[in-house]
Amino acid sequence: MSLEELKGKLEALEKQALAELEQAAQEGIENLRVKYLGKKGELTSILRGLSNIDAAVRPLIGKLSNEIKTRLEEKINHKQNELKEKSEQAALSNITVDLTLPGTSMAMGSMHPITQVMEEICAIFTRLNFAVVQGPEIETDYYNFEALNFPPEHPARDMQDTFFIEDKVLLRTHTSPVQVRVFEKQKPPVKIVVPGKVYRHDADVTHSPMFHQVEGFMVDENITFADLKGVLTLFIKEMFGEQLSARFRPDFFPFTEPSAEVAMSCFACKGAGCRICKNSGWIEIMGAGMIDPAVFKHVKYDPEKYSGFAFGMGVERIAMLKYGIDNIGLFYENDLRFLKQF
Ligand code: DAH
Repeated sequence: MSLEELKGKLEALEKQALAELEQAAQEGIENLRVKYLGKKGELTSILRGLSNIDAAVRPLIGKLSNEIKTRLEEKINHKQNELKEKSEQAALSNITVDLTLPGTSMAMGSMHPITQVMEEICAIFTRLNFAVVQGPEIETDYYNFEALNFPPEHPARDMQDTFFIEDKVLLRTHTSPVQVRVFEKQKPPVKIVVPGKVYRHDADVTHSPMFHQVEGFMVDENITFADLKGVLTLFIKEMFGEQLSARFRPDFFPFTEPSAEVAMSCFACKGAGCRICKNSGWIEIMGAGMIDPAVFKHVKYDPEKYSGFAFGMGVERIAMLKYGIDNIGLFYENDLRFLKQF
């Protein structure tokens, strides 16, 4: 075959391929590629025949057929992309959105049982016109101990296993220091509850190094122990049941005088004795007392004019009693099987 003939053949081949490509549908394109560019394709078979032709024209034909090959490849790819895009557009325009389908629902969280009980406790007191106040969890020795009448080196400080941050700076061991912070800022009458976290170096099934307390206090002229009894008895009935009664027995706290340990009659056995009340018929739930005049002196309240009561309770303990939970650790594990029950 002469050079001219070969050239003509190649050019005719390209023309034909392009004409077929023009007509091709998406499914036909791969076939076209194989037909013209594949290993057994038409262009390849022309190139195979090159060995039979004159060595002088071989490079020219080689160059030409490579050019054709590249052009065809490009055009085939282009057409393929074009058709693919068209069919995707068509598919998209066929999709209809059913706006009446229900949406994907989000899992709802719920309030932690400790938060619930803490809010329930505070709500009982806010109904009695107590205000809710919070204080810092990092406290100084002054507010946590000294101003609450714990003298330096006094053994009463050992009642509370303190986490110290620095000398004289610590994680508060109770919510009572907020009494002092409020008294410094506000003159009587004050009626306040303080919910919050407290920290002690202690851990077993009923103790955790972090737990929650609600502190309460009321200061005005002529506040007596009878007021304390009335408020706390009402609290016990509201929280645990109308039929329950309160018991006050002498206790000691440096910041109250006299001090009391407050118990309620056992809600489970109604006083007969059971496992929950350890057969005593009574369950201790908080400390309380009349605020010691020594505390008033630190904040320049006149103890001749004002008197007040204070009380403090552990929220975990109240929640464990209320829901019959016997391991405090369950509150902090964040196991949804536990949390979802409240
Ligand atoms: N702060 C005490 C404690 O953590 C509890 C307490 C006892 C608070 C007697 C009071 C109180 O306000 O009057 O153990």
